[in-house]
Amino acid sequence: MELIIQPKPCIQGKINVPGDKSISHRAVIFGSLAQGVTEIEGFLWGEDCTRTIACFREMGININIIDEKVVIQGKGLNGLQEPGNVLDAGNSGTTARLLLGILAGNPFYSVLTGDSSLRNRPMGRVVEPLARMGARIMGRKNSRLLPLTVMGGKLKTIDYHSPVASAQVKSCVLLAGLFDRGVTSVTEPSLSRDHTERMLQYFDIPIQKKELRVEVQGNHGFTGRPIKVPGDFSSAAFFLTAAASMPGSDLTILNVGVNPTRTGLLEVLSQMGADITLMNERINNMEPAADIRVQGAELKGVTIGGSLIPRLIDEIPVLTAAALLARGKTEIRDASELRVKESDRISTMIEELGKMGAVIESLPDGLKITGPQRLKGSRCMSHGDHRVAMALAVAGLSAEGHTQIADSQCVDISFPGFEEVLNLL
Ligand code: S3P
Repeated sequence: MELIIQPKPCIQGKINVPGDKSISHRAVIFGSLAQGVTEIEGFLWGEDCTRTIACFREMGININIIDEKVVIQGKGLNGLQEPGNVLDAGNSGTTARLLLGILAGNPFYSVLTGDSSLRNRPMGRVVEPLARMGARIMGRKNSRLLPLTVMGGKLKTIDYHSPVASAQVKSCVLLAGLFDRGVTSVTEPSLSRDHTERMLQYFDIPIQKKELRVEVQGNHGFTGRPIKVPGDFSSAAFFLTAAASMPGSDLTILNVGVNPTRTGLLEVLSQMGADITLMNERINNMEPAADIRVQGAELKGVTIGGSLIPRLIDEIPVLTAAALLARGKTEIRDASELRVKESDRISTMIEELGKMGAVIESLPDGLKITGPQRLKGSRCMSHGDHRVAMALAVAGLSAEGHTQIADSQCVDISFPGFEEVLNLL
């Protein structure tokens, strides 16, 4: 599939975006481990989240779709069955890493794999703490890459100090901790998204949070409950950033998750000169949501790094596109995690935006841009990375002439219907 983007002078309107990917995954996980029924409204029907559903079905959990809701008949903490086949996480790092924590704590044999991108992404970061908890996990490259074989069983608790600010690592260890009688803790170098912690609280599982440390009490059964998934901030980000960087734009995105561990982009766009307002703020299942209005402006460059980075890690590709339009220098540092996402997002963005005429300096942990730069529509590649494809689409909106994005079906991983929403504006 090829996405064709025609330039627009500005964008206006009111739109919705599909459900939050991180919360959708976790809703299926917690619903499957709970006793009784969990109904999920607003679930993201993207490929990543349907992989999580397929994996739990393979482990004997009954999951049905009724009136557009996902209805899970959870079997409790000890209710999973040994999967009869290899579990396939597809392109989804969240499915793979969170599931490994659960597989490690269950007394059965399993094999987990993924697509060619996921099979090259680092799994050592979760295998290492799980091994310290006593898990037996084997695989290629000293058990650092999928496919991985897990002989799950009894684990011991751990006080884990993670070297990376990664919600997937934190969640993996906390989920493994659910299968032990004691208290498991994770401390991270700066705060990553806290959807797992919020869902643990929502399901009344005892947890303690103190700054960068979170601990969970294991072996505590819980019951199913309804979950409303807000729109995904990271999907909204493409349109928010496009509108912010095009003077004359006025866009409202309805019902978007605004968990503060996710919304670093709003602070950065405001600092760059965009006008952003949150309206109708509310909370469902411990997760805040709001309607977000953004009015565009001539943006100015910005320097970002440090603890802000985990709060906007998935938005850096689109922020890179906006920085090209901004006046002055933009520098993004401390973002080497981008190199191990669905693609090396620093290299892929520099390479593809380069085809549109952009000049961007690559840094080991980020990039430097001097703007404004005028882009020319061109034929770009997605590298199979959904966020790269959509960030390039945003760049194409303010380019001269049309832009083609080849291999664009990957947008369905997190944003099915992206093109339709784009055409609405
Ligand atoms: C996610 C965590 C982040 C993020 C990913 C989703 C999650 O990854 O980039 O898109 O749902 O926990 P890391 O934990 O690798 O930072």
